[in-house]
Amino acid sequence: MPPIVSRRPFSLSALTLSLALALSPTLSLAEAPVAAPVAAPVVKYDYDQDIFHPVYAKNGMVAAEQELATRIGVEMLKRGGNAVDAAVAVGFALAVVLPNAGNLGGGGFMMLHDAKTGQDVALDFRETAPARASRDMYLDDKGNVAEGRSLYTHLAVGVPGTVAGMEHALKRWGTMKLADVIAPAIKLAEQGVVVSPTLAQMMDVEKDNLGRWDSTRSIFFKDGRPLKAGERLVQKDLARSLRLIARHGSKVFYQGEIGDKIVAEMAQHGGLIGKDDLKHYKVAERAPVSGEYRGYKVVSMPPPSSGGVHIIQILNMLERYPLSQYGLNSAQTIHYLAESMKLAYADRAEYLGDPGFVKVPVKGLTSKRYADELAQKIDPVKVLPAAAIKPGKPQPYESDQTTHYSIVDGKGNAVAVTYTLNLNFGSGIVARGTGILLNDEMDDFSAKPGVPNAYGLIGGEANAIQPGKRPLSSMSPTLVLKNGKPWLVTGSPGGARIITTTLQTIVNAVDFGMNAAEAASTPRVHHQWLPDELRVEKGLSPDTLQILKRQGYQVAEKPTMGRTQTIQVRDDGLYGYSDPRNPDGATAGF
Ligand code: DON
Repeated sequence: MPPIVSRRPFSLSALTLSLALALSPTLSLAEAPVAAPVAAPVVKYDYDQDIFHPVYAKNGMVAAEQELATRIGVEMLKRGGNAVDAAVAVGFALAVVLPNAGNLGGGGFMMLHDAKTGQDVALDFRETAPARASRDMYLDDKGNVAEGRSLYTHLAVGVPGTVAGMEHALKRWGTMKLADVIAPAIKLAEQGVVVSPTLAQMMDVEKDNLGRWDSTRSIFFKDGRPLKAGERLVQKDLARSLRLIARHGSKVFYQGEIGDKIVAEMAQHGGLIGKDDLKHYKVAERAPVSGEYRGYKVVSMPPPSSGGVHIIQILNMLERYPLSQYGLNSAQTIHYLAESMKLAYADRAEYLGDPGFVKVPVKGLTSKRYADELAQKIDPVKVLPAAAIKPGKPQPYESDQTTHYSIVDGKGNAVAVTYTLNLNFGSGIVARGTGILLNDEMDDFSAKPGVPNAYGLIGGEANAIQPGKRPLSSMSPTLVLKNGKPWLVTGSPGGARIITTTLQTIVNAVDFGMNAAEAASTPRVHHQWLPDELRVEKGLSPDTLQILKRQGYQVAEKPTMGRTQTIQVRDDGLYGYSDPRNPDGATAGF
């Protein structure tokens, strides 16, 4: 860790500062004073001022990426279940209706606010590397990363955590029986669901990866091509697996019939997961990372996610700039967003990994003092080139899939879950006879220091492959609390962009007073240090982009980033919204 310097309160606004810098050639950047934190503007929701409006409900709400799953969650709440009961039901339902991301064969994270105890808990059911995994398993004879090996082969699969995670959450905080929360998912798998245009497109994009395996083709293909919109996706084997889990609990997955089939699948195709890997899989309850942002408390996922740490780290830097005065998506605001994102992602590559294996300096990274120090590197106008921060090799982005859902019940419990197979449909491999798609989460490790993964993220020693270790994640289920109670429940898929998407949702709500719908609907930006590119969604004004380009940013307008599912708790009830970037998402309540 670089040395920590003490905080120097200073009230010059950044604009005044840039002027001072321009006029005074003797005031070097290193001496540039750091502004003190700026308070949040007072938010007054005004119906007349908002273009997009959230869904309202009084007693409970679910925001998820597929309407059928949302409805199942709401049904659990209506039956008297709490947010965790609903979350587990939604988790199993998404494994059926959103097969590209919802899963039994992957892993994820849950952030929970327990209204009874007032505590926030982070549940980690991330995949782990099998015992036979080794540091260089994705390198070829020449020591180069073998293309696709960590993504589309049986070697890509980490030991799945979702089933254990769901069962753990239900036993620990839920009130309903496992069989009851799984029942709706079984029915959907058995009877089939109509393929939406969105899902059809996902399957089409991944047709080569899905088509490679008989076990996968027999479920998602018809007449030699992926199912089309309007056709029915029936998953009999998955229904059977779900029924087994409903009857016997997670034991059947980790030490019984389903586990045996996964192990057989691995053995047949050179995969590494063995009986003991499944038997020894463990869910971890962790203390969340937390920070203060303009008077709000932000609690989010700790390592092995990098998400919470960097959201807080970036917010700590942003806190000193009056973003609400600079304006939403103005060049000045985007500049501060991009510069602080870059500094955080550079630290990600260096320090972040599984805390069971490496010492992650969470306290240091999320401290206000460290943010002060970093903020001194941020010039109000000049762009810090990525190479000046740390060198690396950029790589293009790829398509990807994860999913997030948020739930709040009438008792004040709040749950945010992000879980994933990693890329779309994970490895594309269904373990024969189970109907269960297996993840390709092993790609989240750094296969070789300095070589980017599917998200262009690079990593080093801290995220090297080791048996039993969890690959570093960006998933960031997050709660923002006001006076100790959930105020915003949010999160997103999007690989490396999860962190910045979730960050901007918080900034939009806190700094720009946006409701959940507005916060989701506004264009996003992203910078991850390497590649040295400011990625933007469409919708920013040409003159803003021009200012940014003139400042020195490599601006790239690319496909949309993230798909948030957000619920905001206000005095008169719950206001939620499903990101319009996914037309299949739905927020509902009662
Ligand atoms: O854990 C992670 O950070 C990644 N495996 C998440 C992948 C992802 O978000 C793909 N999404 N759209």
